[in-house]
Amino acid sequence: MTVRAGIAGAGMVAAVHADAIRRAGASVVGVAASTPERSKAAAPRVGAGRAFDSAEELAVSDEIDVLHVCTPNALHGPLVRAALSAGKHVVCEKPLSLTGADSEALVELAASTGLVNAVPLVYRYHPMTVEARERVRRDELGPIRLIHGHYLQDWLARPEDNNWRVDPAVGGASRAFADIGSHWCDLVEWISGHRISELTAATQTVLAQRSAAGRETFTGSGDESPPESAETERIAVTTEDAVQVLFRTDRGATGALVVSQVSPGRKNRLWFEIDGAERSVSYDGENPESLLLGGRDRTEIVRRDALSEPANRINAVPAGHPWGYRDCFAAFTADVYAAIRDPRAFAEGAETDAQAVPAFPTFADAARTAHITDAVLASAAHRSWIEVS
Ligand SMILES: NC(=O)c1ccc[n+]([C@@H]2O[C@H](COP(=O)([O-])OP(=O)(O)OC[C@H]3O[C@@H](n4cnc5c(N)ncnc54)[C@H](O)[C@@H]3O)[C@@H](O)[C@H]2O)c1
Repeated sequence: MTVRAGIAGAGMVAAVHADAIRRAGASVVGVAASTPERSKAAAPRVGAGRAFDSAEELAVSDEIDVLHVCTPNALHGPLVRAALSAGKHVVCEKPLSLTGADSEALVELAASTGLVNAVPLVYRYHPMTVEARERVRRDELGPIRLIHGHYLQDWLARPEDNNWRVDPAVGGASRAFADIGSHWCDLVEWISGHRISELTAATQTVLAQRSAAGRETFTGSGDESPPESAETERIAVTTEDAVQVLFRTDRGATGALVVSQVSPGRKNRLWFEIDGAERSVSYDGENPESLLLGGRDRTEIVRRDALSEPANRINAVPAGHPWGYRDCFAAFTADVYAAIRDPRAFAEGAETDAQAVPAFPTFADAARTAHITDAVLASAAHRSWIEVS
């Protein structure tokens, strides 16, 4: 069966989804951007068969089997509800919704339909992060004591930088943490098997005002340009540019995380280290072809040519040929589409072997990150330790 996909949104990540859908042997039958004109302009760019007038029309169309939600965050919940109610499988970008409570409601709705639901927390699909997880699973590290790291970017470092993510009505109350801190937390919880159980956080809005220009675009190469008047207009900023978090896990480890979108020179530095009693493992997303496996007596660099079976399952290009972000998306989408082609295996697999098989992240995983985000905001507001729901 050729799975027929529709993509709501036509910006940076929509193009990545379109590529991954085709690599999964499916076809992109439709796309919808914010206006009919923008949908028309986007269709050739993402290789879609048809431009839909609106995302709402696309979500319920008989022409699609699965909806990919790649719009600004505030639209995720409504589009997911519409698509599930119309019997469509859904791949929704993170954050699944703007709060933990609403994300939980979407988890329940999806479960009641039996449809495939997935969220591209795609750093789980790098062979080296899978390898890190496997080293933990084989108990090479010993009891885990510390989990720490950071996720740093610089694309919002200047007052001229802006984006729809800055506006809480469109991006949500949390910006830096919901946007990228969520990826870090999902990844380290998935690798370590620990869950962040309580945390204390300090948020920082380093730029109190930003230019109104660029409010709608991410990379500047998207489909929407700001009006010229926006060049000089200033807007007040309420969402955070940076966050520092201390946390404890349900299995007795402690941790620390720095998240920032204002760190000059850091383009997408997702870095973590997990320290066990015997060994540590660390990963640097800007140099992702190796892992450092630390030890008191012997420290090894593990390269992408000597991996365990779970990591090799997705390791589709030989070492020396770098594995990229789009490859993570392609591997994720291949798993999701296998489940769409055989939803019974998806339901059974989720129940039986979630630990052994690198099952793709679902709405439940995204709801988990939304609860952590809620706890970060609550802790920063109350200046206190908060338990994560
Ligand atoms: N998983 C990841 O690694 C990852 C990476 C980047 C972005 N994302 C997520 O993907 C989503 C999109 O991010 P982006 O960076 O592609 O943003 P972007 O600004 O590049 O694109 C947003 C797109 O949404 C469209 N849009 C706006 N309003 C719309 C509407 N009413 N109906 C239909 N389309 C509408 C715009 O036309 C634009 O094409 C966000 O939720 C973001 O958090 C995830």
